[in-house]
Amino acid sequence: MSDLLVKNARFKDNKVQDILILDKIIAEIGNVRDSIDIPTIDAKGYFVTSPFVDSHFHLDATLSYGIPRVNQSGTLLEGIKLWGELKPNLTADALKERARKLCQWAIARGTLSIRSHVDISDPSLLAVEAMLDIKNEYKPWLDLQLVAFPQDGLIRAGSKTNLSKALELGVEVVGGIPHFERTMEEGTESIQYLCELAAAKGLQVDMHCDESDDPMSRHIETLTKETVRLGLEGRVAGSHLTSMHSMDNYYVSKLLPLMSEADVSVIANPLINITLQGRHDSYPKRRGLTRIPEQLRAGLTVAFGHDCVMDPWYPLGSQDMLDVAHMALHVAQMTGATQMRECFNAVTEYPAKILDLDGYGLKKGCKGDLVILQCMDDIEALRLRPARLYVVREGDVLSSTAEVISNLDLSGKKSSTDFIFSKP
Ligand code: FE2
Repeated sequence: MSDLLVKNARFKDNKVQDILILDKIIAEIGNVRDSIDIPTIDAKGYFVTSPFVDSHFHLDATLSYGIPRVNQSGTLLEGIKLWGELKPNLTADALKERARKLCQWAIARGTLSIRSHVDISDPSLLAVEAMLDIKNEYKPWLDLQLVAFPQDGLIRAGSKTNLSKALELGVEVVGGIPHFERTMEEGTESIQYLCELAAAKGLQVDMHCDESDDPMSRHIETLTKETVRLGLEGRVAGSHLTSMHSMDNYYVSKLLPLMSEADVSVIANPLINITLQGRHDSYPKRRGLTRIPEQLRAGLTVAFGHDCVMDPWYPLGSQDMLDVAHMALHVAQMTGATQMRECFNAVTEYPAKILDLDGYGLKKGCKGDLVILQCMDDIEALRLRPARLYVVREGDVLSSTAEVISNLDLSGKKSSTDFIFSKP
């Protein structure tokens, strides 16, 4: 039985209320009597949110930066080459050790669900088995959803058998990378094959799709068509979709309503695509992030993923989903008040919908999962990327940290750091 009383938590509507978690489930939100004899924490009027959700990550590659060497150019192509150099020397133990560390970083920052693509190109399926072990090992603390990802191309690398084996082993989402196949035709063929496989097995689809600056990379059109043909509406996501940045405006005005009709979701990866895209441009350089505000306006579900942390493609990162939302907000110029709130939703409730997370939310009857942030609301969370004071999973406190406060004594005057460190 995991019971917990959280006193004085500030909700999105600015109301300060108590949250009673009984037997892992939110039993009551309101004014709960203090005398109740269960573990209690005081949120002191700070902001409470459902945990962060990372809808796109690569747990098998994470924290491998510098092995066997660093990426000198910082480009996607050198990253792919480096991953190729690293792969023959991967061991299950090393993969798992790095993944464990990443999961612990994620939990400490309030991320309790991750969808991770796992490379199935290696016939031994070493990475798949290692990530399935981590999924089971971390089940009490973190929901890990795995995607069978043919990183070197489904057709290009002959990965159909490996992909099927990965699904048989327990990987639950069908991945793909149509723009990396040899031709547009083979990209189409891969989408058809993978969507038919997902339909036959009753699985979700999440493809790396059109991650390039080529405006003619239009695999999302085929993915949308296959979604409707096979009745996969609401179960398909297109990850990255960066070519949409460079597409013709008229074409996008036709494409977005089609995606909306098919209920295809979008997963953007702003930290990675702002650094990897536009590398063949002189000035002006394209940003290469997909068209987030327009997709939201078209009624699409849009989530943001971290994608990489210290791997061959990205040397930075700490698995903080507020860093991800902060970057998206800036690059996509989403500084309108409602837009900023949507950026926060894109690392919380929107990816929870895409991952179909059971019992997610801050309502009676939902799982007792929550994060107390040292700030007053969602917009301030994006501005400050503040301390995660408490991270709670099914009524258990998994991680906590002290308030960040000023020690300056300015003789009773307001501390200059009050502006930075929010106080209720
Ligand atoms: Fe990715």
